[in-house]
Amino acid sequence: MYIQNLLHIDKITGKKNKAKIFFPLCGKAVEMFYLAKKGHTIVGVEYIEIGVKQFLDENKLSYKKTKHVPEIDGDVYENEENRIKIYCGDYFKFGPTLETNFDGVWDRGGLEAVLIDQRGKYTDIMKSVMKRGAPCVYRSPRLTGRRRTTI
Ligand SMILES: C[S@@+](CC[C@H](N)C(=O)[O-])C[C@H]1O[C@@H](n2cnc3c(N)ncnc32)[C@H](O)[C@@H]1O
Repeated sequence: MYIQNLLHIDKITGKKNKAKIFFPLCGKAVEMFYLAKKGHTIVGVEYIEIGVKQFLDENKLSYKKTKHVPEIDGDVYENEENRIKIYCGDYFKFGPTLETNFDGVWDRGGLEAVLIDQRGKYTDIMKSVMKRGAPCVYRSPRLTGRRRTTI
């Protein structure tokens, strides 16, 4: 659990009890389940299917592969009980035709995982699905000290 980001959870959720939170390049981030248990709706994007299944299995979450999404060359996995939806496909094909109106973004290590010349597109996609003015808490695993978390 990445406490540094959790310190900013009120900013991510806008202090809402039921915020819609975006996890780009989510991997197996355990915070998805942690925040879902708090009542929030979670949407992740991850292209490694085994990672998506491991996240669900390791957290003992039942799930269904609910639909194929040709736009991202992938599928959607859902745990309806906890309002967790993970798009298993290419983030760079994700966008507002699939999801919009995120109250906030939780990103740990995603920006660094993409090539430098793709980072503009990475953040453009993020902005296109967020509510106007919504915050993004980003944590870079490589930076240390006070620079670790930027908002
Ligand atoms: C550094 S990890 C992120 C870990 C995660 N955010 C966490 O907090 O544990 C980067 C993840 O991005 C995924 N990834 C990389 N490029 C992607 C893309 N174009 N579309 C979807 N997922 C991608 C990788 O498979 C990997 O799981």
